[in-house]
Amino acid sequence: MKLGFIGAGEMGGAIIRGLLTQGCPKEDIIASVHTPQSAERIQKELGIEAVTDNRRVIVEAGWLFIAVKPAQVESVLKEIAASGVPAKPLICMALGWTVEKIQRVLPAWPVIRIMPNTPLAAGEGVTLFHFAPETPKRARREVMGLFDGMGKTFEISLSVFDAATALSGSGPAFVYYFIDALASAAAAQGLPQDEAVKLAVQTVIGAAKMVSRENLPPAELAQKVATPGGCTAAGMDVLAASDVKAVIARTLAATAKKAEEYSK
Ligand SMILES: NC(=O)c1ccc[n+]([C@@H]2O[C@H](COP(=O)([O-])OP(=O)(O)OC[C@H]3O[C@@H](n4cnc5c(N)ncnc54)[C@H](OP(=O)(O)O)[C@@H]3O)[C@@H](O)[C@H]2O)c1
Repeated sequence: MKLGFIGAGEMGGAIIRGLLTQGCPKEDIIASVHTPQSAERIQKELGIEAVTDNRRVIVEAGWLFIAVKPAQVESVLKEIAASGVPAKPLICMALGWTVEKIQRVLPAWPVIRIMPNTPLAAGEGVTLFHFAPETPKRARREVMGLFDGMGKTFEISLSVFDAATALSGSGPAFVYYFIDALASAAAAQGLPQDEAVKLAVQTVIGAAKMVSRENLPPAELAQKVATPGGCTAAGMDVLAASDVKAVIARTLAATAKKAEEYSK
């Protein structure tokens, strides 16, 4: 069965790369993009067929992936409706495009709303899922299975989808910011910048793996590292006094609010 992508930029391209890495045959993927230059580049870089004719993808794909910017989604959905093809699993990753909004243009289609994140390109992504009731159980399992090979998958209810989007969709940017802050602070104390970045990256990887392995709340792990009167405790005191948790709460709230605005 063919997997058809309408849009293959940053996110669509990362998913296609992930599928190819998992062993999906090149011949099983087709993508349509806006410009002939992009089509040519994708064909050269990924070896899949890339065209500028959405209709080819709409007709040939067994599963349709929508990976255009949110502002282009409506016109693409209208193209799909106008094509008259029978309903098929439609996987949309555009911010704010809920199942209900998509079904206003494609009534009763088995729509799957997803929110991937870019670490999926490194095999450590998070992909959130929300399914239309019409989506057969088997299609749900199979689509989630595709993304399991690129990280972890989570089914999320609509009421908290924007909050989850703020955490895992935008979260990589916040973690990059934190890594940069750690490295810059160490560099200010004399560590060479590139070495500081390497130390910060490995520290974040190691700490994340410990949280995942230890089965303990992260706050408890932090306490275990911070011996009373020791140097970690001195740093933790500064974090607590600066109310960093409140800043992070405001950061996620602003992100989720923006995601919610897109969903209207
Ligand atoms: N980037 C992320 O981190 C991220 C994370 C989660 C979700 N998303 C979602 O993923 C979607 C794509 O984002 P992106 O960052 O990948 O955008 P992007 O890099 O700008 O890619 C957009 C793609 O859509 C193509 N395109 C534009 N208009 C089209 C049309 N009418 N028909 C067919 N293809 C068309 C573009 O082709 P040309 O190159 O020829 O213009 C390009 O391949 C967005 O809806 C976004 O909300 C992105």
